[in-house]
Amino acid sequence: MTASVHVRAPGKINIALRVGAREADGYHRLATVFQAVSLYEDVVARDGDDIQVSVTGRQADQVPTGPENLAYRAARLLAEATGTQRGVQLQIHKQVPTAGGMGGGSADAAATLLACDLLWQTGLAREELGELAAELGADVPFALTGQTAVGVGRGDVLTPALARGRYTWVLAISHRGLATPQVFSEWDQQNPGPVPEPTIDPRLMQALLSADPWRLAPLMVNELQPAAVAARPELDQVMGAFLRSPAIATTISGSGPTVIGLAADAVDANEIVSQLTAAAVADEVLMVHGPAPGARLVASVMGEAD
Ligand code: C5P
Repeated sequence: MTASVHVRAPGKINIALRVGAREADGYHRLATVFQAVSLYEDVVARDGDDIQVSVTGRQADQVPTGPENLAYRAARLLAEATGTQRGVQLQIHKQVPTAGGMGGGSADAAATLLACDLLWQTGLAREELGELAAELGADVPFALTGQTAVGVGRGDVLTPALARGRYTWVLAISHRGLATPQVFSEWDQQNPGPVPEPTIDPRLMQALLSADPWRLAPLMVNELQPAAVAARPELDQVMGAFLRSPAIATTISGSGPTVIGLAADAVDANEIVSQLTAAAVADEVLMVHGPAPGARLVASVMGEAD
């Protein structure tokens, strides 16, 4: 039997996202609060001669399978960093929307780093995987750690948040993704002057400790929202539908187009799903919970190759 390793990594939402100046490398300084949610990417890694990627699941037809795929890049980066000569066949099953502002590609990359490290027995420490993750993209380190965390720098310098409780979120998903660089350049046009250093409101951190969604709701903010709405005006209608529902807060996740609504409890969450579905403003409406764990091993079969 061939060796295989199955790793699962979560998608994320941004409970808060504040944007600062664009740096010389093209990235913006950010201050964000990530929460991993119960929508997952599954990656099964099997021995192979070179690197091969196949994709199934939500919007799989929109995901490239060549060297530009973030999971492909993750496997190649790990091979280069460790000097292994081994290859891998990566089978990705997607739940997280593609180009949806929920870090789906980043979850694929994080899951691949962990899966290949186990398959190839390259034995990197979690911190070393975190450093490789940051080279692949700003959201990749968070997909490794999961839970709830504050991200600064490009969003990749993480501090775990002291958060209690479990939150219920409703997601309004569009099958037409938005390119993150497009939303950031729209933001640049909307904010031509000097911008202050982004920070997270300390009351938000206290609200997360209180486990009370009513305290969290008024503190949710996403400064990319006006830029995402400029790029995709229909998002205003989606947020309008959340505002008419029992949702106690609504914003976009990351650079959109996924719109999130916070539910006060599970009964309200069902009602929000019904109302958003009836409003027919999104391709899919889903209920998820957070926080969720970061990339983790689900199953492994050790083959005879070693
Ligand atoms: O890190 P990732 O590759 O996911 O970022 C995609 C693009 O989003 C970057 O190339 C950049 O244009 C934009 N971005 C940014 N500032 C950040 C994160 C992403 O401008 N902090």
